[in-house]
Amino acid sequence: MRDALLAFLVALVVVSELTVLVYYVGDRFSRTEDSAEVTKLTGLPVIAKIPRGSGVELIEAFRVLRTNLMVLEGSGKPRTLAVVSANQGAGKSFTALNLAESAAGLEERIVLIDADLRKPVLHDRLGIARTPGLSSVLQGGDLTTALQKAPDTPFLRVLASGKPVDDASGVLGARAFRHVLDSLRAVRLVVVDTPPAGLFADAMAVASQCDATIFVLDVQTSRRRQVRQTLEALDRAGANMVGVIVNRTTTPKRAAYYQS
Ligand SMILES: Nc1ncnc2c1ncn2[C@@H]1O[C@H](COP(=O)(O)OP(=O)(O)O)[C@@H](O)[C@H]1O
Ligand SMILES: [Mg+2]
Repeated sequence: MRDALLAFLVALVVVSELTVLVYYVGDRFSRTEDSAEVTKLTGLPVIAKIPRGSGVELIEAFRVLRTNLMVLEGSGKPRTLAVVSANQGAGKSFTALNLAESAAGLEERIVLIDADLRKPVLHDRLGIARTPGLSSVLQGGDLTTALQKAPDTPFLRVLASGKPVDDASGVLGARAFRHVLDSLRAVRLVVVDTPPAGLFADAMAVASQCDATIFVLDVQTSRRRQVRQTLEALDRAGANMVGVIVNRTTTPKRAAYYQS
């Protein structure tokens, strides 16, 4: 009798573990390189696919993104663009930085803002100072002096994050942030990096004040449910979602095409 009970309990545990496993495997974006499937799940067009890696394919992918943003129908060409994702590590900062550099390559004035006041990385990746930065300006500092030159990209200016703040979502939702965006209307494009929208309200505050928002979807780690919930929250906040960036795709066919 005791053995039967034990066997029953073991079976129960195995079944529940399997259920969890099936749930997670099923919930992952396993074949999201297919644009139609991404669009079906997100309700948004795929405006670029970014391969994992570096080099020519990556440069070309960001040119595609840059061009697609410039010819966006309906929403007008965005001047202020928020880059968001559900989870950490999806590639928001990577996308924001590469897009800003690519756009600045057209010799138009571009500004990159690090609005991830929690775990900012752009200053490190560019080798510039963290302060003065966005938080300094939101607390009354001068915007022009806080804008730093990107070392290798003449037309790009960067507003680093500045010092950490206690209430990041509150600060980003306040009028001072809108004022920063308004003050930058003269530049061609302002790209704004954000913390994970699935974890904090910061991205909603930023996205709701930008002309347009792009959603970075990492094919390796994204979960459908989390993506859907995050998109719903962005929608409720009033973000103008213009498309999805599918990140870390396997190398596209173009390389093979040119080698043949
Ligand atoms: N397509 C890609 N190819 C190569 N490295 C990438 C790619 N996307 C992201 N990464 C790298 O993955 C790490 C996490 O990306 P990051 O942009 O910092 O994520 P997030 O800002 O969404 O937290 C970084 O080291 C970044 O350089
Ligand atoms: Mg980041």
